[in-house]
Amino acid sequence: MSEGPVPGIERVLFTEEQIDQRIREVAAEISRDYQGKTVKLIGVLKGSVFFLTALARRIEIPVKIDFLGISSFSNRSGAPGVVRIAKDLDDAIEGDDVLMVEDIVDTGLTLRYLLQTLSGRGPNSLAVCTFLDRNSRRIVQPPVRYRCFEIPDRFVVGFGLDYNQLYRNLNYVAVMERKRS
Ligand code: IMP
Repeated sequence: MSEGPVPGIERVLFTEEQIDQRIREVAAEISRDYQGKTVKLIGVLKGSVFFLTALARRIEIPVKIDFLGISSFSNRSGAPGVVRIAKDLDDAIEGDDVLMVEDIVDTGLTLRYLLQTLSGRGPNSLAVCTFLDRNSRRIVQPPVRYRCFEIPDRFVVGFGLDYNQLYRNLNYVAVMERKRS
């Protein structure tokens, strides 16, 4: 979906052009940093799919891709960040140069869990690239090497990010309207 009035959307935060430009810059950085290697991009379903494919197409070194599916839920006391792997990677990552590709790092709890899990599988290197970073809500600080955009403390949708599974197909990132109570 391209830009135009969409119900529930308050304002556009990043346009398609801004996103494309920033992805080119980050892809160039990755291509430089991993020169001479094959980088394995690991996406977390479903949010990161749009970003991962856009990024992969701009990277100028050999790329492999794989995906993880997770479900996250609160524990009995209501604390967030309980994560479980619902769909594992297709292939082993031992000896690989792995770059985890995230849609957004918010509290950091999901990423911390994933990094702990993957680092136990013997990759040659393990780093993180996120499309959006909402640093203001961090509970834990897992290392993030590449980020496209820092965002304010508002719920956002588009370019893979959803609200109730909707809005993923927006070509831009937008702030949702606040719910009226
Ligand atoms: P964390 O464990 O709090 O860092 O959770 C990150 C996950 O929460 C992301 O991968 C998203 O699936 C989801 N999420 C967090 N903030 C937003 C948002 O503003 N819009 C859509 N999804 C979000």
